[in-house]
Amino acid sequence: MLFQRVKPLDQILATAEKKSLTRQLGALQLTLMGVGAIIGTGIFVLTAEAGQKAGPGMMVAFVIAAVVCALAALAYAELASMIPVAGSAYTYTYGVMGEPIAWIVGWALVLEYAIAAGTVAVGWSGYMNGLLMHTDLFGLVQPGALALPEALRVGPYEGGAFNLLAFGISLVIALLLLVGTSKSAKVNAILVAIKIVALTAFIVIAVPAAKSPNFHPFTPNGWGSPLGGIGVLGAAASIFFAYVGFDAVSTAAEETKNPNRNIPIGLIGSLAICTVFYLLVGYGAVGSVGSQPMLGADGQALQPGTLAMAAACEGSNALVCSKEPLAHVLRMLGFPAIGNLVGLAAVLALPSVILVMIFGQTRIFFTMSRDGLLPGSLSKLHPRFNTPHVLTMITGVAVSLFAALFPVGKLAAITNSGTLFAFIMVSIGVMVLRVRDPLRPRPFRTPMVWVICPLAVAGCLMLFLNLGVWTLELFFGWAVIGIAVYLLYGRKRSHLANGTEAAD
Ligand code: ALA
Repeated sequence: MLFQRVKPLDQILATAEKKSLTRQLGALQLTLMGVGAIIGTGIFVLTAEAGQKAGPGMMVAFVIAAVVCALAALAYAELASMIPVAGSAYTYTYGVMGEPIAWIVGWALVLEYAIAAGTVAVGWSGYMNGLLMHTDLFGLVQPGALALPEALRVGPYEGGAFNLLAFGISLVIALLLLVGTSKSAKVNAILVAIKIVALTAFIVIAVPAAKSPNFHPFTPNGWGSPLGGIGVLGAAASIFFAYVGFDAVSTAAEETKNPNRNIPIGLIGSLAICTVFYLLVGYGAVGSVGSQPMLGADGQALQPGTLAMAAACEGSNALVCSKEPLAHVLRMLGFPAIGNLVGLAAVLALPSVILVMIFGQTRIFFTMSRDGLLPGSLSKLHPRFNTPHVLTMITGVAVSLFAALFPVGKLAAITNSGTLFAFIMVSIGVMVLRVRDPLRPRPFRTPMVWVICPLAVAGCLMLFLNLGVWTLELFFGWAVIGIAVYLLYGRKRSHLANGTEAAD
């Protein structure tokens, strides 16, 4: 019943073969591509969230999340190299586990891509608001004169009304995509360099300022318990967001020279480089200014992104309260100019992550509507710009509203729930396909598949359960809506079911 309407892999591949790409990418390019896609709001902003959940133990959280990502990445790469077509995990599951599961995965990917775009937009607004607050525009105005009123700096969960800048940047990026802006490799290389230089500057200043008392107690909230959403595991579930994006490497499998060697190097290499950076940044932040959580009246750590947390943070200099933690730490250490430059680096580099995420979302919707599971009118191309303008605008408005109303940590957790679910399905899909279709060529084979894939499923499930009850309720609520949409619409209209595929 569940595993029905499996789309033949050969049919999926026929779409891809129409335009085959040149194999030109090597290990180094892939690694840089991964680093560019990975570094973003996670390290620049969620460091504060992870600190509130785990205290100094957030450094362990960075390692746990990295290991889970590496396992999932190795599974992901096998399907990406076998089925190198648009739509990512949605397409893979369509070809392996059938339409109902693929639909749910595609529906969950909305959380991964659209909500990730919102998360990064809120992160961006934190740094932009910080710059507006601290700049005097080279002596032209009083510092703080340009700052927005509090009500427009954060959403209602944190005592504001509407996060204006997060709303604005999401809309601007959606408009850019609508007129056909794409990410150029050159701009990407420059942005990667800016991010790396900013993180390196932070490390060079903060790490030598580390003092051992700042590491005690190391795990003030313990390790965390299932559904708790706090402790080291809760922090790992949040900080998982900082690694999202490495799938950019696996989706380039079709353009990679010697993929069986270079894909794992690119994946593991970019994850390893980011992990080293993240650990050093985490060590520097914790060690130099401390990262003990804010406690409530009951002595328990407060949940980040709540009114209680916002109240406790009022006037506080604590790392865990900052919306722009890396710039904040440097200012506290007596380097305000460098702090502002690091803030500027985040302001320059983060919009490209929003762009990639909104782009990814529209292309997944596009694939789903091409399959007949969403109305075809949505995927109409703009006559002049040749972009799916209806989808882009719907996505852009939804992302902007989410970004305006929700705190960064909650959005990151929702993103992670969708991503982890997709990774679990992909890891299961790899094993199913090894049994069902063992002879199909696999440009990249997951090493020790019967160890790596079950571990990937277990690791993703562990992080998923540590996202906290609020996020899981939202995830399952979203899934229920998705199932209803499928039963009422997609099930009857599916091109695969109706044999109308050829029409596309
Ligand atoms: N990993 C990306 C970020 O941290 C999504 O912004």
